[in-house]
Amino acid sequence: MAIKTALHHGVFTLEIARPEKKNALTLAMYSAMVEALTAADADPAVRAVLITGQPGVFTSGNDLEDFMQRPPQGPDAPVARFLQALLAVGKPVVAAVTGDAIGVGTTMLLHCDLVYLSDEARLAMPFVSLGLVPEYASSLLLPLLMGHVRAAEKLLLGEPFGAAAAVDLGLANAVLPAAEVLPHARRMAERFNALPPGAVRDTKRLMRAPRAGQIQQAIAEESVIFMQRLRSPEATEAFQSFFERRKPDFSKF
Ligand code: COA
Repeated sequence: MAIKTALHHGVFTLEIARPEKKNALTLAMYSAMVEALTAADADPAVRAVLITGQPGVFTSGNDLEDFMQRPPQGPDAPVARFLQALLAVGKPVVAAVTGDAIGVGTTMLLHCDLVYLSDEARLAMPFVSLGLVPEYASSLLLPLLMGHVRAAEKLLLGEPFGAAAAVDLGLANAVLPAAEVLPHARRMAERFNALPPGAVRDTKRLMRAPRAGQIQQAIAEESVIFMQRLRSPEATEAFQSFFERRKPDFSKF
């Protein structure tokens, strides 16, 4: 199973485990994550959720083959349900980013509460190079977090950036040696065992409430354009070039 879950000492771990495809997320994996997150949030034995990947890769984002063959059709699509399920988790969500975090791998971090990165992690949001647009309210949150011009490097140019830059830009808490990132994130998640869960939940809700409406509006606007763009000749060229292992040619558009 490409999504593994475990509950240990109050921490519900959701592990993305498809290393042979760099942890690319399929529709089935999104659906499994929706179920896992919803169940974890409802389980009183869970005090925090920990999301992690495999050594060297957190996730390479949406499975591009799945996306080409079965593009998401609306709010019921597994990817959209996953984004909403993560947003709805009332308990703290901690990310242990064990390696590369591409596309949704980076944008999901904007909705986690504590983020720890391996020193080997590279982050990137190459939506434009794929003929697409940002998702998961990243077009709203990234400029808010780091200012328009820095966000433009990441979103318009799709420029990758390292773990230290992600901390400087306010996207993550700390950088750790690769072998340390998961144990450290787990220790941080376990700290919630000693805290009153109601106060933790209320505080998380208060911290997020002022932007909640704007986030939903951004997600709705992004997803309409994202779905149109998935069917565009630009995206077709970008996806084909990835699987043909060649540079895309956008000169004809
Ligand atoms: N969707 C589908 N398959 C993917 C994938 C994705 N997002 N990312 C990687 N894979 C597959 C590759 O096709 C390859 O499969 P194969 O062995 O059957 O040929 C395998 O995973 C290994 O990937 P590879 O590209 O050879 O690994 P790498 O170490 O050279 O590079 C990445 C790793 C993550 C930098 C690179 O795979 C990549 O750029 N992936 C696409 C990222 C992306 O654009 N994501 C979508 C954002 S919306």
